[in-house]
Amino acid sequence: MKVLVTGGCGYIGSHTILDLVSKGYEVVSVDNFINASPVILDCINKITNKQIHNYNIDLTDAEATEQIFEDHPDIKGIIHFAALKAVGESVEKPLLYFQNNLNSLLSILKNMKKYKVRNLIFSSSCSVYGNIEKLPATEETPIQQAESPYARTKQMCEEIIRDTLNSFDLNAIILRYFNPAGAHHSGELGESPINPAQNLVPVIMEAATGQRSHLTVFGDDYPTRDGSCIRDYIHIEDLADAHTKAMEFATNTNDNYTIFNLGSGDGVSVLEAITAFEKTTGQKLNYKIGDRRAGDVIAIYANYEKARTLLNWIPERNIDDIMQSAWTWEEKKQQLF
Ligand code: WQD
Repeated sequence: MKVLVTGGCGYIGSHTILDLVSKGYEVVSVDNFINASPVILDCINKITNKQIHNYNIDLTDAEATEQIFEDHPDIKGIIHFAALKAVGESVEKPLLYFQNNLNSLLSILKNMKKYKVRNLIFSSSCSVYGNIEKLPATEETPIQQAESPYARTKQMCEEIIRDTLNSFDLNAIILRYFNPAGAHHSGELGESPINPAQNLVPVIMEAATGQRSHLTVFGDDYPTRDGSCIRDYIHIEDLADAHTKAMEFATNTNDNYTIFNLGSGDGVSVLEAITAFEKTTGQKLNYKIGDRRAGDVIAIYANYEKARTLLNWIPERNIDDIMQSAWTWEEKKQQLF
């Protein structure tokens, strides 16, 4: 079965391609490298020992996008990752985020309708939940006012897909990721450093390798067990596995709109993540306590029971595996970039 992966050279897209190929799928990628390095395509091809075809085009260009469907009339499913995803940047550049994230989805949907492609896996985010009273988050947890334009584009895309369901034979799976982190067990693939790291785990790696003087913990005065924010860090390989299982589910279900939370179910605080890094790698981390970061939610972690039941998905890796794999990739990355 042939699958189109948009954002195929991005962090989650590249790891998902590896998982799809390992399970016998034929993959076509599209990525214009605005937030990923072409080196990542070489990493994918080295690990898979294949030549994955990547279309270097902008998905907001509907004509260029149509060419992919003309060339590959046997595409049976699409996993749509391609989007800008930096929460802070979206606050500074909201129009860029709405234009890019919404128009790329519209371009995909128009072509799916025209070329009768039924199955869509959409990359959404736990950021659609905002600050939650009752944890863990389930798929029925009420959606709240988005904390950033990025999160709002994810909410809007979910609604655009829902509203499109009756206009053609579309079967959509919405995957709400918690905090993706870690790297491939081969040590040959991980997060590409095309832009300055903003997420906790890559920032820890940069501080540990001296690429930055220290890590700043954004607040230790929150109402949590140690005062720092709690998140659900999900290993990138568990996340990739969930996508392949979601594609299998899509081709076999009679539903046409299914939402899944994809998280480990474990809440880990920032300070606990730092301790896990130091314990796992034997490295001492230089960090300071700083002010809170605007837009941060206090705590969020997932109930993934629905994915376990319907996708037969169980996350197998923990925060220690995340830190170890990220550290191994960090050393490899120094040679590649
Ligand atoms: C995690 C915690 C920070 C950096 C991300 C993505 C979002 C979505 C959910 C997928 C927070 C703290 C961080 C630093 C710190 N994922 N931190 N110092 O904000 O939960 O959101 O995951 O769609 O797209 O952005 O992740 O890694 O930025 O922050 O103290 O230098 O680490 O305050 O508590 P976040 P994050």
